[in-house]
Amino acid sequence: MANKIFDTTEFAKVARQAVAEGVVLLKNEAKVLPLKEGTKVSIFGRSQFNYYKSGTGSGGMVNTRYVIGVYEAIEQDGSLEINSNLRNTYERWIEDNPFDAGAGWAAEPWFQKEMPVTKELALEARENSEVAIVLIGRTAGEDQDNSNAKGSYLLTDDEHQMLENVTKVFEKTIVLLNVGNIIDMKWVAKYNPSAVAYIWQGGQEGGNGVLDVLKGKVSPSGRLTDTIAYNIEDYPSTRNFGDSKRNIQQEDIYVGYRYFETFAKDRVMYPFGYGLSYTSFDIISNGFAVEDGQVKVSITVTNIGDYKGKEVVQVYVAKPQGKLGKPVLDLVGFAKTKELDADEHEILDIVFTNYQMASFDDSGVTGHKSAYVLEEGTYVFYVGDNIRNLSRIGTYNIGRTRVVEQLSEALAPKLDFTRIKPEAREDGFTISYEDVPKATEENYELPKCEALVAGDKSYKLVDVLDNKCTVDEFVAQLSNEELCAIVRGEGMSSPKVTPGCGGAFGGVTESLIEKGIPTCCCTDGPSGIRMDSGKKAFAMPNGTLLACMWNLDLTEELYQYEGLELRKNKIDVLLGPGMNLHRNPLNGRNFEYFSEDPFVTGKNAAAQLKGMHKIGVTGTIKHFAMNTQEAHRHTVEHVASERAIREIYLKGFEIAVKEAGATAVMTTYGSINGYYTSSNYDLVTKVLRDEWGFKGIVMTDWWAKGGKAECGDSTDMAAIVRAQNDLYMVTQCAEDNTNKDNLEEALEDGRLDKSQLQKCAKNICEFILHTPTFARFIERNNTLDIDLANEAEDDDTEFDNIIDCRIDESGSAKLQADLIKTARNSSNTVSISFKERGDYKLSMRVRSNAKSDLAQIPLSIFKDKELVKMVTLTGADREWQNVEVIFENCAMTFFMRLYFAQDGMEIDGMTISLAKSKEEEFRLMFARMGEQ
Ligand code: BGC
Repeated sequence: MANKIFDTTEFAKVARQAVAEGVVLLKNEAKVLPLKEGTKVSIFGRSQFNYYKSGTGSGGMVNTRYVIGVYEAIEQDGSLEINSNLRNTYERWIEDNPFDAGAGWAAEPWFQKEMPVTKELALEARENSEVAIVLIGRTAGEDQDNSNAKGSYLLTDDEHQMLENVTKVFEKTIVLLNVGNIIDMKWVAKYNPSAVAYIWQGGQEGGNGVLDVLKGKVSPSGRLTDTIAYNIEDYPSTRNFGDSKRNIQQEDIYVGYRYFETFAKDRVMYPFGYGLSYTSFDIISNGFAVEDGQVKVSITVTNIGDYKGKEVVQVYVAKPQGKLGKPVLDLVGFAKTKELDADEHEILDIVFTNYQMASFDDSGVTGHKSAYVLEEGTYVFYVGDNIRNLSRIGTYNIGRTRVVEQLSEALAPKLDFTRIKPEAREDGFTISYEDVPKATEENYELPKCEALVAGDKSYKLVDVLDNKCTVDEFVAQLSNEELCAIVRGEGMSSPKVTPGCGGAFGGVTESLIEKGIPTCCCTDGPSGIRMDSGKKAFAMPNGTLLACMWNLDLTEELYQYEGLELRKNKIDVLLGPGMNLHRNPLNGRNFEYFSEDPFVTGKNAAAQLKGMHKIGVTGTIKHFAMNTQEAHRHTVEHVASERAIREIYLKGFEIAVKEAGATAVMTTYGSINGYYTSSNYDLVTKVLRDEWGFKGIVMTDWWAKGGKAECGDSTDMAAIVRAQNDLYMVTQCAEDNTNKDNLEEALEDGRLDKSQLQKCAKNICEFILHTPTFARFIERNNTLDIDLANEAEDDDTEFDNIIDCRIDESGSAKLQADLIKTARNSSNTVSISFKERGDYKLSMRVRSNAKSDLAQIPLSIFKDKELVKMVTLTGADREWQNVEVIFENCAMTFFMRLYFAQDGMEIDGMTISLAKSKEEEFRLMFARMGEQ
C-alpha cells in the first residue's frame, strides 16, 4: 500500500483477493472448474439468498454498506448465464419461507430451511443448463457452538435430497460450502459431485472472491488449516467437549493432524494443508543449512501446469520419539509463491528455529524438568504441498539431549488425569496413556512491593513522554480512588468514546483526565469494526478463511486497511484477532479463529498485528487462553497438562507477542487448571510478561469472573489485579463502581496492595502513551495523513418505517411500543411534532428477553442524525428498567431514530413529553429582567 489513503474501493479489492485465495478446492473432477465464459448455470440452495458473511455474536456484528454473496456476484458480473427459471422458483418459495433470524443472540439458527429439490425440478434445471452450483450455508458463533446434528455439522434431509437429485441429473455439479468451520463431508463420497470447495464466510466481498475462482481469474490456492476426518467422533477431543464443569484435555498435544497423523491416518478424509489448484507445481528442495540455532531451507517451486497460479509450500519436522513422545509431524514453516505463469519458478527460503522444534518437558523425564528440550536423535525435515504429500529434505542429528530454554513450572494441573502418549508398534503408533505431571507449586500472585510514594507533583502523563518524570513518578501521584478507577474499563457504548464501541479505558474519570490521561477506545472485532450505533464499517473475511490463504503478506496488507478504518473512527484497539485453536470442529467461534495448528495461528495473528501497527493502532489477541468451546464458557474449567498448554494452546499467543510485539491481550471467561484466566498469575504475568517479555495491557473479557475456578466472581477485582490483569471490562461508571467490585474493600483489609494496583496503572499508562488518542489529546504528531476516498461520509440512514407522533397541548404523547421493530438491525424512525418548543423527554422501560446471560443488546437513540444515548443491556437484565432521554432545544418537528443492533430487547411504556418549555423559559427570563 503506497500511501495512507483510506479508500474503501481499494480495501474491497484486497478483501476480494483474500477471499479468492482463501477458497479451498477439495475436488475438481474432469476439470469442471474453472467455468468458461457464457456457461449456463443453475444455482441451487437457499443460501443464494442469504450468504453468510460471518458467524454470529460479537465477532459478527459489523454493519456493512453491502454484502455481495455468490449469487449477486455472478449476476452482477454477467459472464455466466444464470438459469432464471430456477431462480424464479426459489424466489416464489422464499416468499413463503422468509429468512428466519431466530431469537437473537446465541439463538440464531445454524441453517435456513432448504427448498425441497425434487427430481423433476433438477431435471427441468438440467434441461436449461450444463452446470449446477449448489450452495450450502451454516452459521454458529459466540455463545452458540455447532452441534453434531442435522443442520449444523451434518447435512439436513433436504440438503441430502437436493444433492442426490442434482448430482443424479447433472454431470457437472459444484458444491460450495458457505460455512464458518469445517463440516461433515461424508456426503461427498455418496453423491460424488464433480467439484467441492470451502468458500467459508468471506465478509462483504465474499461472493466476488468466489466468482474469481469459479471463472478462473484466480486459480485456487487456499489450503486447509484443519484436518477433516470422517466422523466427529474421530476427533479425540469430542469426548471431552462441551461439559459444563470441566473439560479434561486428555488428547494433550495431539490436536488435529498431530493426532491423526500419529494414531489414526485412516480416519482422515482431507488432510491438513490440502487444497487443489487449476495447475500443478513441482516442489524441489535445494537443501538446507543449520546455523545459529536456525534451519534454513531453500525450495524451488515451478509451475508445471498450463494455468497461472500460486502454490503453498509447507515444511514439517519429524522429531525423534525420545522419552517425551512426539507427534509424527509438526509444521515448522510455510510460504506462498507469487502468481507463477506456466513454466515459471520461484525460489523460496523458509527459516525455522531450534526453539520451534523443541518439546516441553513437564515431568522431568528427560532430566530437564520445565525446559524446552531437543531430545537426542534424528530430526527429519520434509517439504510438500500438504501433510500427506511430502518429500524428504534431509535429516539433522542431535547427539545428546539439549536444553533450548530452561523455564520454571507454570500453569500445571492440580487434578489427577491421564494423557495420550504414542507407543511404537511395527506399523506405526498406538495410543497409550500416562499420568499427567501435577503442579508441585501453588500459582503465585503478584508480589506486594513497596508502594510508589510521591506527593502530587502535578505531573501530567505527557511529562513521561518528555522525560520530565518517570512513569513510576507519574503513577505515584494517583490516589487510591484514581487507581481503583483506572483499572475499570467502561462500556459498552460509552459516551466517552466513539459511539457504539465496546469499551473505554484510561481517562474514565474527570480527575484522571486532569492528570493528562485521555479516554481510549476499543471495539470488536475479528470480522471488522463493530459500532452498535449502526455506523457502517468494512466486513472482513473470517479468520479461518484468512488462515487458509497461507499468505501472510496479503493479511498484513488487509489489516493496514483495517488500521486506517480504526484511525478514521478514532478507535485505538481492535478486539481481535481471535486466536484459539480449533481443538474441535464444534466450537462455535472457530470461524473467528485460524486453525488447529498453533504455528499457523500465531503467524496469522502476527501478520494482522503488523498491518495495524504500521498505521499506529493495534489489535487485542484473544481469548487468552483455551477458549475452545462456547458452551458454559463462563463456568467451564479447562484441565490440561503444562506441556499441552505451552506447546499448543499458548504457542500462537507467544508468536504474536514475540514476533509482532502484541501490546493488548484479552483473557477468557473460563478457567485453566484451577484459576479463572483473568486471575491467573502464571498465565498473565509469569508466562506472558516475564517469560515472553510482553509489554502492554491485559483486559478481561466483558463482565468476566475472577478468582479460583470453584468460586468465580465478577466482583472479585482484587484477584484480577493481583494477577496483573490490568483492566476489568466493563463497568458502566468507573467512578461510581457500578460493578460493585471489591477493590476499595480489598485495599482496606489487605487482600490487595496499593503497589499491585500501581503496577496495573503503569501498564495502562504506558500503553496509552502510544495510542492515537494520546497524540490527539496532547495535540502532537496526531496528523496521520488519512485521506478519505470514495466514501460517502457517513451514514445513510435506512428508514424502515416512519411512525407519526404528535404532541398536543397536554405536552405528552404515548407511543405504541409494538410499532417499534426491535429485531437485529432494525432502524425505527419516529417523526415527533409538537405545539410548544422546548426540551422533550422520551421515557420507556426496557428489559432483555435473550436466552443467554452474556448476550449484548444495544439500542442507539438518535435525534435526527445526532446520537443522543446508547443503552446496552446484557442478557441477564431481565427486570424492567427505566430509560430516559432528553432531546434538547426542539424547535420544530424532529426525527427520533431507534436503532437495534441485536435482537433481544423488549420495550414498553413509551412516552414523549415536554420536559422544559422554551416559552416558559422565556417568560421566566423576561419576568426576571422586569424585576431587575
Ligand atoms: C466476547 C469478546 C468480545 C467482547 C466485547 C465478549 O462476549 O467474548 O470476544 O470482544 O464480548 O464485545
